Amino acid sequence: MIEKFSFGTHVETGAVVAPVKEGECLPYFSGKAEGEGARFSYPLQKGDIVYGLGETMRGINKRGGRYVSFNSDNPRHNDDMPSLYASHNFLLIDGEVRFGAFFDTPARAVFDIDLNGSGKIDVKCERGVTVYIVEGASCNDIARQFLSAIGRSYLPPLWAFGFGQSRWGYKCEKDVIKVADGYEKAGMPLDYICLDIDYMDRYIDFTVNKKRFPDMKGFVQRMKKRGIRLVPIVDAGIKIEPGNAVFDEGVEKGYYCKNLEGKNFSAAVWPGLTHFPDFLKKEARDWFGRQYKFYTDLGFEGFWNDMNEPAIFFSEYSKGKKGSRFSGDPLYKGGAALSDYKSFSHDVDGTEVPHWDVHNIFGAKMTEASSEGLEKLLPTRFLLFSRSSYIGAHRYGGIWTGDNNSSWLMLRRNFTMLPGLNLCGFLYSGADTGGFGGNCSRELLLRWLALSCFTPLMRDHTTIFTRRQECYRYAGKQDFKAVLSFRYRILPYLYSEYMKAAIASDLLFRPLAFAYPTDERAKAVEDELLFGESILIAPVMEKGAKVRKVYLPEDMTEVRWNGKMFTETPVQKGEHFVKVPLNEVVFYIRKGKCVSVSSGGRNTSEVDMKNVTLLGDGKEYTQYLDDGFTRDCTSKNLRVITK
Ligand code: GLC
Repeated sequence: MIEKFSFGTHVETGAVVAPVKEGECLPYFSGKAEGEGARFSYPLQKGDIVYGLGETMRGINKRGGRYVSFNSDNPRHNDDMPSLYASHNFLLIDGEVRFGAFFDTPARAVFDIDLNGSGKIDVKCERGVTVYIVEGASCNDIARQFLSAIGRSYLPPLWAFGFGQSRWGYKCEKDVIKVADGYEKAGMPLDYICLDIDYMDRYIDFTVNKKRFPDMKGFVQRMKKRGIRLVPIVDAGIKIEPGNAVFDEGVEKGYYCKNLEGKNFSAAVWPGLTHFPDFLKKEARDWFGRQYKFYTDLGFEGFWNDMNEPAIFFSEYSKGKKGSRFSGDPLYKGGAALSDYKSFSHDVDGTEVPHWDVHNIFGAKMTEASSEGLEKLLPTRFLLFSRSSYIGAHRYGGIWTGDNNSSWLMLRRNFTMLPGLNLCGFLYSGADTGGFGGNCSRELLLRWLALSCFTPLMRDHTTIFTRRQECYRYAGKQDFKAVLSFRYRILPYLYSEYMKAAIASDLLFRPLAFAYPTDERAKAVEDELLFGESILIAPVMEKGAKVRKVYLPEDMTEVRWNGKMFTETPVQKGEHFVKVPLNEVVFYIRKGKCVSVSSGGRNTSEVDMKNVTLLGDGKEYTQYLDDGFTRDCTSKNLRVITK
């Protein structure tokens, strides 16, 4: 059962799409409107676990932390970072009392979850909020109810489940070809290569640098023939450049956010000074979405939206600080001057709304704009993922978790974020495998790939200042080949579980306690997850570890992939010390369940999804089978395969 409770007013976020009835008196939390916002408090019991909050640091259990929903572009990720690029305000409290709570507000919100052992959840919303309370028989039940209220997940095409390579710094055709050749020569699979801002003419959206890519249309086709798609980046700001048709139309039609004087707001991002499209305005969204025709005409079928928190290096108001993004100037908290976010406004159905009050849905609305535009432009499913997001954007695209770094902590956080992201609707997600900032070691990259093989978005991405991070650049290529090839073996299961989760409004990744609620030991596990209906994953996330401790809540089948074959061994419930060499992928299949695997391929189109093998001690598996492109996702595409 879901009920909603309103505290003040706010601009509609569009997160919840199902009709929800208005409740009379907010249960569980004591709460009241306060000033322009509202405050809430919930007394936790000792053993209560708090799940959720999507893209946030710390562990799966959010207790002991303070999290601030205020979308920020700040690459200095560590466990004390209160805000990342997204705001995912859904919590699931699991204890003797169990319920879900979604604080739906487009403005800043602070979640103090038993910080300093206060024993309470304190939530402070700066502006009006609608609180949704979800009650259910189990964590799974609460999750499913919430997910069906916020609507079906975005569905990527099959090729988006392949492996992608990216780097800020591929400057021209030749650079991209070298990467494709590198993978091909090494016999490593690859489905797409991302084009970062260097493909553009002076970092301007909807342009191509003709010197670097003289025939982009032909190039896209040539690469596609090789089985590799190209995925361009699109940034939120439109460069101020009179004479540029897109820019001019935005000015003429009044599609940009307004500054304190009512003129178009100017802020610097990669191309220099830009105007921000007013994504909260329907006509501006439609206009921005239509611009993707530039890319679809060139043959692109996948896109990544960036800088949409929005990132601001400096604005017309934070004068004299030009270029000082990384200077440590107090004005530049989170990469942008916070005051900049108080310097522009939106037009929401004819009413002027300060950006500050709707900050957290800006990126989500950009995703909505591009997704709706692409739906009109393309006949099939497309790849789309964004950096910034809010609940609701999961219906329009996926997300990546921003500028992480090459560290073991980031690998672990990639892992611990997964169930929280799913709880907030984001099935298609992943981190920059290998880390964006910093130099990735061979060991870290291999371990990270072994985790990313299970995440729907699997992309190796790094920044311009780091060592090259393509798998074929590392010593002992055969080890990378072994791990990468696993992704293409597990594809039938990954794809099926994704589609089944989308159809049933269910999770793909869940904490062990969701499936073993009476197992006290399972509740504390932060380094294992259930993946789909059959698999338990327990990746190695520690430097130098050759063995890892695994807790199995029931008898299972251990499956080991060594690059050539699968080995299955029955293992008993309990604790195990498991050897995991760098070139192997190890996972577990639950009792009575099966997993479908393919015979592999160099890209997704080579994978035979029909003739699969079943692993595990179960008898059958329900596979999702379609052409990998068709929009219509239906249970009619499910078929039961037996051993
Ligand atoms: C941002 C993005 C990163 C990208 C870079 C250059 O930092 O998060 O992925 O490579 O901009 O476009």
